[in-house]
Amino acid sequence: MNIAVVTPGGDAPGVNAAIRAVVRSAASQGFEVLGVERGYMGLIENSFRKLSPRDVSGIINLGGSMLKSSRCELFKTPEGLEKASDNLKTMNVDWLVAIGGDGSMKGAKEISEVSGIPVTVLAASIDNDIAGVDETIGFDTAVNTAVGAIDKIRDTAVTFERDFIVEVMGRQRGFLAVDVALASGAEIALIPEHPVNHEDIGQRLLKMASLGKKSSIIVKAEGAMGNPFEMASRLSRLTGYDFRVTVLGHIQRGGAPSARSRTLACLFGNHAVRLISEGKKNRVIVLRDNRVVDISILDSYTSVKKIDEDKYRLVSLLAI
Ligand code: F6P
Repeated sequence: MNIAVVTPGGDAPGVNAAIRAVVRSAASQGFEVLGVERGYMGLIENSFRKLSPRDVSGIINLGGSMLKSSRCELFKTPEGLEKASDNLKTMNVDWLVAIGGDGSMKGAKEISEVSGIPVTVLAASIDNDIAGVDETIGFDTAVNTAVGAIDKIRDTAVTFERDFIVEVMGRQRGFLAVDVALASGAEIALIPEHPVNHEDIGQRLLKMASLGKKSSIIVKAEGAMGNPFEMASRLSRLTGYDFRVTVLGHIQRGGAPSARSRTLACLFGNHAVRLISEGKKNRVIVLRDNRVVDISILDSYTSVKKIDEDKYRLVSLLAI
């Protein structure tokens, strides 16, 4: 059995731990593993390298992906998929394992259809936006990174009695923003799923000030309310308060994975190899109801995950 492992799309802390788990679980079954470099681009460019258990030593604690990644537009075209399929067959790949988010799942499904080669996906993304899934590899680390940064921002916010807008990642969805806002004790969470207007936010800030708050932190998802600097100017005009903006950006994608992200990666990687040895095709490995299970690949990226409304409301409830 020849397994190819690929890490497409946005990286997430714990991806290296997942590669290690796949390679070593596979070796324990007598399977060979090839690493695909630069995500789906490597399938098109025929960029494979053999991975032995020793090749994945010392990576469990490292952020990023030892195999590298890319956003590969060519892979979305029939020509790109055909080329990738030809290369997988030339390399005698029997099974493809992808580690990534919804884009990786869609790509894995498509290459499986074109090539006839079965696939397994390990859900890894800092966005945690896969339907029916408690937690993806990397999410816990990204939340902790952002919360650690906001703890520092709060020190200066309190000292200067200023308001801050902190932008976290999440172009489409607000799962990261809600968890970060709750865990950092932020006053307001702004997410794409719940559009609000500047006047309402201004009113909430004025009300909190009337209750004695001297500074507030707004956690804003990338995809909510547009440009954070323009938002700060508008809120400043509406309230008369002094605002500062911090865009956390890609620091949330990097860094050493938390113990929790590593543990998920180990469990998901081992589960993937178990499915391969059982011949169970085209599944996504996820955490659901606190158990590692596998779900249909089509459901994984076609269903829409709902925001936990109670958690979202709790941010405001605890901010009084
Ligand atoms: O999907 C993960 C993610 O980090 C999103 O939260 C973010 O919007 C996007 O990737 C950024 O992508 P890129 O690194 O390609 O700019």
